[in-house]
Amino acid sequence: MCRHSRRGVLSTMLVSIACTLVVTRFMLPTCSNLSTRSVDSRSPRPAESSSQASFFEAYPWESSNFSECIALENFPKPHVQSFVDLPCLNTPFFKLRESKVSEIPLDFPILSNHICEEKVSVLFVLPSVADEKTKNIRLSIRKTWASRFYGADWRQTSDMKMAFFFGSAGLNQDALDALYRESSTYGDVVVGNFNDTYGNLSLKMAVIISWVAKFCPSVEAVVKVDMDTFVNVDLLLHILTEIPKEEHPAYVLGVQHTFPMPPVIRTGRWAVPKSQYPLDVFPRYMQGHSYVISGPAVRLIAPSFPYFPIVANEDAFVTGIMSQVHNITRFHSSFAEEHTENRIQKFRQNAIVSIVLKGEDRQKLWDRQKLWQSTKTKKCYVS
Ligand SMILES: *[C@@H]1O[C@H](CO)[C@@H](O)[C@H](O)[C@H]1NC(C)=O
Ligand SMILES: *[C@@H]1O[C@H](CO)[C@@H](O)[C@H](O)[C@H]1NC(C)=O
Ligand SMILES: *[C@@H]1O[C@H](CO)[C@@H](O)[C@H](O)[C@H]1NC(C)=O
Ligand SMILES: *[C@@H]1O[C@H](CO)[C@@H](O)[C@H](O)[C@H]1NC(C)=O
Repeated sequence: MCRHSRRGVLSTMLVSIACTLVVTRFMLPTCSNLSTRSVDSRSPRPAESSSQASFFEAYPWESSNFSECIALENFPKPHVQSFVDLPCLNTPFFKLRESKVSEIPLDFPILSNHICEEKVSVLFVLPSVADEKTKNIRLSIRKTWASRFYGADWRQTSDMKMAFFFGSAGLNQDALDALYRESSTYGDVVVGNFNDTYGNLSLKMAVIISWVAKFCPSVEAVVKVDMDTFVNVDLLLHILTEIPKEEHPAYVLGVQHTFPMPPVIRTGRWAVPKSQYPLDVFPRYMQGHSYVISGPAVRLIAPSFPYFPIVANEDAFVTGIMSQVHNITRFHSSFAEEHTENRIQKFRQNAIVSIVLKGEDRQKLWDRQKLWQSTKTKKCYVS
């Protein structure tokens, strides 16, 4: 167990030393023993409304209270660890079906196939929601941790790119029009043809991964990021260099679920019906706020979605079940933690890749801006 969270400093150090020793060798998972209307976003871009432009000016940056970071602990630099499912879930359930059992809609009202026209090494995909307040969150992401992907006129010119994903079924014309406008301004909007509900998140990821496989066929790594998660892109790139890609071209990387065998919840928001997934546990999977799927893993998984039942719980489905189906290596790293004062220090010290923002949407907007300012000024914020 090479996890650092919620331990005392001493035991953290001991675990860290032990992990460093263990982690230098990578192990294979032992289970292997057992109608499109596309928008040309390069056409002239009408300016977004002025309320968008003034949105950031509303924040009182100058009066924000920044101070030097105080190192509470010396956080260990994250390393990549592969992990093994024990005991193995060795059942025929994880075999692909012989005929199609799932319908993955592959028509895109907003296609945005220009995104990967030029070489893309790392593509960030963010499942998003088509409403007014989420529009502000997208703008805040484009202007903070993701700003380096955008050049003049919001063109994405680096070899890292980002796209927000939506489903159109059930959207009214106004909401759809707003997405067309946003797409023509920022060029980073993809809209698929499905009902964009919480219960359809797994389908949404299947659509996203299928879009990537089709339109970004040579991408090296896809990073799925939730809207409320702030990413340290430099550290992410550094961690990607630690993956032994020659031995494990198809991999997923993220924060492993606390339990080696995560229980399946049958009631409430995260309920998964037995008819969908009959086993009592999932294969160990990555937490959903941010995880990486390598290009080769995308290309293995994407064509197989129709031949496997869609299971609710997008993170368990993609990083657990589909990885198990394809024998994809799962790597764990100190990837993300929740946003607390202590974790900001940790983030600032390059010890975690991402922070999950907490609280009301407005608080998250505020925190995203503060984290960004703090990243740029190399100072921590106090309030
Ligand atoms: C995964 O590994 C098992 C055991 O080696 C093998 O039987 C199975 O065919 C593999 N599955 C895939 C999709 O490669
Ligand atoms: C900034 O925060 C520190 C620590 O909480 C406090 O002592 C100081 O008075 C604050 N300064 C301003 C200008 O708010
Ligand atoms: C979308 O899903 C919700 C919840 O399942 C349902 O109430 C609604 O009718 C669906 N809308 C469409 C357009 O399929
Ligand atoms: C998921 O999307 C499909 C296609 O739009 C729709 O038929 C289905 O009702 C949706 N399911 C849920 C749970 O919203």
